[in-house]
Amino acid sequence: MEKKIVFSGVQPSGALTIGNYIGALRNFTELQDEYDCNYCVVDMHAITIPQVPKNLRKNTLDVLAMYMASGIDPDKSTLFIQSHVPAHAELSWVLNTITYMGQLNRMTQFKEKSKKSDENLNAGLFTYPVLMAADILLYQADFVPVGEDQKQHLELSRDLAERFNSRYSDTFTVPEPLIKEFGARIMSLQDPVAKMSKSDSDTNAYILLQDSKDQIARKIKRAVTDCIGSVNYTDEQPGIKNLINIHSVLSGMSVDEIIKLYSGKGYGVFKSELAEVVIDALDPIQTRYQQYLDNKDFLEKVYSEGANKAESKARKTLRKVYKKIGFVPRG
Ligand code: TYM
Repeated sequence: MEKKIVFSGVQPSGALTIGNYIGALRNFTELQDEYDCNYCVVDMHAITIPQVPKNLRKNTLDVLAMYMASGIDPDKSTLFIQSHVPAHAELSWVLNTITYMGQLNRMTQFKEKSKKSDENLNAGLFTYPVLMAADILLYQADFVPVGEDQKQHLELSRDLAERFNSRYSDTFTVPEPLIKEFGARIMSLQDPVAKMSKSDSDTNAYILLQDSKDQIARKIKRAVTDCIGSVNYTDEQPGIKNLINIHSVLSGMSVDEIIKLYSGKGYGVFKSELAEVVIDALDPIQTRYQQYLDNKDFLEKVYSEGANKAESKARKTLRKVYKKIGFVPRG
């Protein structure tokens, strides 16, 4: 039986956080034996926000190294850089022509990002979810592992697949999101009702995958909690709830086990043991990450072979699409 197809992507718009790891990267790794997985560094998405070219280049290789450091095996999964496969931009254009302005206007991420940067309300930021749909549909993905924040974008991808299929006959697989019950939305350590984000101006709000042991311990110690003082898993204690989620995913303990373990112990003990859990989980990833970064030839080999594999899959879909919409084949 043919394996089902998985696609996902991460933006190289800065160093990755434990939110990216818990909500996405970690789950990517779990899928690679059972599925035909395609994991992309989406550099074309990243330029919807101004990027310093040399940082973009560095961050792109960083994300690639982090993919492998967190366990993605380039022999099992197709690992590549979005701008190396022009079919993404090409399909994106076609999908733009079947996307309604109203749909894009409703995207909460666009609304939030546009609030943050008035001077950068570029058209790319607006049509970004269409490029994302192109990423997914090009590979005929059945499943898309993502964090909670991408759910609305996934709905648009499904909608565009269905619209194209009904207009031009069956062409695209309609993708389904894979969103974990735990860890799909890791919150800011400073404002636990907001998502943890690498673009937060407060560096204490997030833990980076590259943070040192001291930084991790310090950030967890400073994490905003509440004055209730007992380790409980409730919406009234969003800070503690978030820390329990992080603990649970990284330690493998259930929420109940964690609550029992820290009952009557106060936040200080909980936080310092959580710091150990995070440090232990990140330590092997950081070691491997550094090894990959030090081996630029290997990185180049991975992304160029990945681009070849991705390109042939993507071209196949694009050829079909062009034919269906009535473009004359080049011959
Ligand atoms: P990006 O780069 O913002 O985030 C990468 C992945 O990390 C997840 N994530 C989180 N999960 C839990 N808690 C958090 N605080 C947290 N922050 C980020 C995201 O949900 C995502 O899965 N548009 C996408 C990139 C993209 C993509 C795609 C994804 C482009 N094309 C096609 C899937 C399929 C984005 O900006 O992710």
